[in-house]
Amino acid sequence: MKVLVIGGGGREHAIIWKLSQSSAVKRIYCAPGNAGTAKLAENVNIPAEDVTALCKFAKQEKIGLAIVGPEDPLCSGAVDMFEAEGIRAFGPPKAAAALEGDKAFAKLVMRQRAVPTAESRTFTSYDDARSYIATRDAGLVVKAAGLAKGKGAIVCDEPSDALLAVERIMSKREFGAAGDTVVVEERLVGPEASILAFVDGRNIYIMESAQDHKPIGEGDTGPNTGGMGAYSPTPVVTDEVLSLVERQVFVPVVDAMQREGTPYRGVLYVGLMLTHNGPKVLEFNCRFGDPEAQPILFRLKSDLLEAIDAVIDGRLDKITLRWDPRPSVCVVMASGGYPGEYRKGIEIFGLDTAATSDDVIVFHAGTKLVGDKVVTAGGRVLGITARGETLAGACTLAYAAVDRIQFDGAYCRRDIAYRALGGTLA
Ligand code: AMP
Ligand code: GLY
Repeated sequence: MKVLVIGGGGREHAIIWKLSQSSAVKRIYCAPGNAGTAKLAENVNIPAEDVTALCKFAKQEKIGLAIVGPEDPLCSGAVDMFEAEGIRAFGPPKAAAALEGDKAFAKLVMRQRAVPTAESRTFTSYDDARSYIATRDAGLVVKAAGLAKGKGAIVCDEPSDALLAVERIMSKREFGAAGDTVVVEERLVGPEASILAFVDGRNIYIMESAQDHKPIGEGDTGPNTGGMGAYSPTPVVTDEVLSLVERQVFVPVVDAMQREGTPYRGVLYVGLMLTHNGPKVLEFNCRFGDPEAQPILFRLKSDLLEAIDAVIDGRLDKITLRWDPRPSVCVVMASGGYPGEYRKGIEIFGLDTAATSDDVIVFHAGTKLVGDKVVTAGGRVLGITARGETLAGACTLAYAAVDRIQFDGAYCRRDIAYRALGGTLA
């Protein structure tokens, strides 16, 4: 079978790496891909957002399965379009992807089903949002309701900061139309965790847990990024937390989507804050997380295609997936300046000799081939992923590989997984 993977980040490289081990997969295309995917797949020069061109390509090439990685094409209806053309596709249809694409909708679903989440109000009027904030006296989080590349949530210590945040989103329109509606919610406190599940409309298969490190700086300081590293499993997700989240979040949400006639199929990612009053939902994502996919897929022993087929065919209850018990970690190497301005086109050295065993793999994200050189092409450049008998061992392997790779301005956090290794769990 021919498979088309849409996207060009570390998540897509990890998906392709896993698929390339599947005997049923004969050929893989990646649009647009990166220098890492080029080794396992044929890169196709179509942007991930150009769904019409992707559909045309898939029909021409008789693609048997299209896997949509990023949120933009999912939220604009890529899966609906593929299916309308008779192409099998993995990911939620547009109406279900709205759980990520429209935070106001996600809040409504959660309120209707009493899913634990931060108290919130939704506004489409700047003046109404300001008047509401003026009545508050504690920390708030102001979120653009639409897609904002992971940067649309502004965490505010004081209501006065929240007034500035709402001005940035609604008046200065920093996130464009994504900020036409804002969600203003109470600020929660606690460690965060990501729990991802395969969902086939009705059945839920929860994967191994992970924890992401969103801020750019060590000790979780500075502005948020797409994610500077992740590890799996995370000790904060105990069996008790997992079963609470299954009962209080996954089951009611998946049921609500089915009853509304917009069943959820694909990967459902629940971003949680583990508060003193129990786990509360911060956000839903309608896809694998990036970089969470890298350590999670590195631990998946079963065939990924088997899980994807079970999701599409609605028979997740018939399969069991095997996981490597060894923990794994992904350390992101980024371009200097990210998440602000950064340069592209810088040559990367040491890639071929970085991984010294099967327990280390260098997933590419923002990289590009120019002749026979690999150069930087994005903010997050590489995701060095390793596994070990212990998490500390996995981290040692990952950082040893990081130290073998050089490019001008390369930056990584040196404290990925620190919380699980004895840092403060907060
Ligand atoms: P979101 O895009 O909604 O996941 O938010 C991005 C990040 O903002 C989260 O990973 C949290 O670190 C932070 N955040 C979001 N909502 C809240 C909240 N209600 N309380 C505290 N922090 C939050
Ligand atoms: N790592 C967070 C995300 O994929 O949105």
